[in-house]
Amino acid sequence: MKPVSGLPEHGRSHADVLKALQAFSSDDPDYKHSKLWSLVYYLDEAHDDFLGQAYRQFSSANGLNPSVFKSLKRMETEIISSVGKLHHGPDTVCGVVTSGGTESCLLAVKTYRDLARKRGVRRPEMVLPTTAHVAWGKASEYFGVKIRKLPLDQDLRADASKLLRLLNRNTIMVLGSAPAYPHGTIDPIEHMAKIAALHNIPMHVDACVGGFILPFMALNGVPLPRWDYSVPGVTSISADIHKYGYAAKGASTITYRHLDLLKQQMFVDQDWPGGVFASAALLGTRPGGAYAAAWAAMQHFGVDGYRELAACTQRAFERMRDGVRAIDGLRVLGAPCGPLLAYAATDRRLNIFAVGDQMEARGWSVNRLQNPDGLHAMITAKHLNVVDEYLHDLAESVAAVRAHPELANSGSAATYGMMSHVPLRGMVRQKVLDLFAQMYRADGGEVDLHTLPPPAPGLRGKLESWAERPMQWYVQRKQQRR
Ligand SMILES: Cc1ncc(COP(=O)(O)O)c(C=O)c1O
Repeated sequence: MKPVSGLPEHGRSHADVLKALQAFSSDDPDYKHSKLWSLVYYLDEAHDDFLGQAYRQFSSANGLNPSVFKSLKRMETEIISSVGKLHHGPDTVCGVVTSGGTESCLLAVKTYRDLARKRGVRRPEMVLPTTAHVAWGKASEYFGVKIRKLPLDQDLRADASKLLRLLNRNTIMVLGSAPAYPHGTIDPIEHMAKIAALHNIPMHVDACVGGFILPFMALNGVPLPRWDYSVPGVTSISADIHKYGYAAKGASTITYRHLDLLKQQMFVDQDWPGGVFASAALLGTRPGGAYAAAWAAMQHFGVDGYRELAACTQRAFERMRDGVRAIDGLRVLGAPCGPLLAYAATDRRLNIFAVGDQMEARGWSVNRLQNPDGLHAMITAKHLNVVDEYLHDLAESVAAVRAHPELANSGSAATYGMMSHVPLRGMVRQKVLDLFAQMYRADGGEVDLHTLPPPAPGLRGKLESWAERPMQWYVQRKQQRR
């Protein structure tokens, strides 16, 4: 008989399925030994088990309707109240737990767009520093809000002196990051919020990365600029518990200075045949397990636990920053405060993406940046154990690329170099989209980032291969010049 679906014809035992899952993970990066410098905030198996147990207790519970699962509403209220206090908010601070940083950022844009609609704004715009996380670009596309880009100063922070000229009657919000994902720099929130407030424009602080570590770094005595509700013009903050709060994935927060703002985020349909419906955030079903694990992590660490984690992270960050600076040919980008940083080559003959490839060959997983080209490190408390080994390998990788500059023309160095330098950005966008879509084909095929998909048949394929010629010419010319 032909199988009726992709499911096994007969169900498998729990043990069998769990073994298969275990096998899947063998292809994943080795984050448990701190080889991965992004995406994951892992401490140890005991903590993961604890989160798993908390998650399991509420894995079927649904936060969609806050009056049904009172347990989840209680956790949410306690989480939001703690975050409000941690971020020096007044008693009026309110908010919701979301599924992640992106949801929190999307919601802020929806809120401020709808608030501005009430005063007649029909062509909404928002001011974002160039380093704003891509979640804000996504929000712009989803909610039809035009982006006005605020350039950076020489330390790669938003240049507040250029903010005023970007504001107009269509501006729905101004954004600052604490810190920004690319370089770990904190934007000049006080200065920006002052200008925004003078023009009655809301100011959101994206503290998805910093929200659960900067307050504890400050308590540990690290000098930091003010960035939270202690700055009068700040009207909302996003802060992820699933990053430096060391919760299970699927937990962030968006808070507002007062309820009139949060109300704009909410959705109500009083006429739906399924019943009168109200929703506080983007999701319908809201995963109880993620709330429980987030609440559990916050209760488990408490202030002293988070301070300890922040102290380890800070030590790892400082060692990394100073270690990178000590390697001839590398420089730290901007003026990061921690917990993350990025670095680039000082010397045009040293290809930083080739250095990245060498690091990968030595077992490290590192992210690549562009504008300027660089390598990225999101540093967690656990990285303190491996930072010296990383720096040793980094020095070796730099030496290897110096000895073999032709490494820049092969492997992912060539691909990243091309993707970040080809001037036809629309074409790069189209190619990335095509490649990315391949990963979501019906048969879920794997895609090698270094090979482009074959040209489409017919006229479209001809046009595409014609359009690719300038790109290939550009890459060849670059390679000849090296
Ligand atoms: C500053 C900032 N904002 C927002 C996000 C989006 O968070 P998430 O990946 O949880 O959706 C990130 C992710 O790294 C970030 O660094």
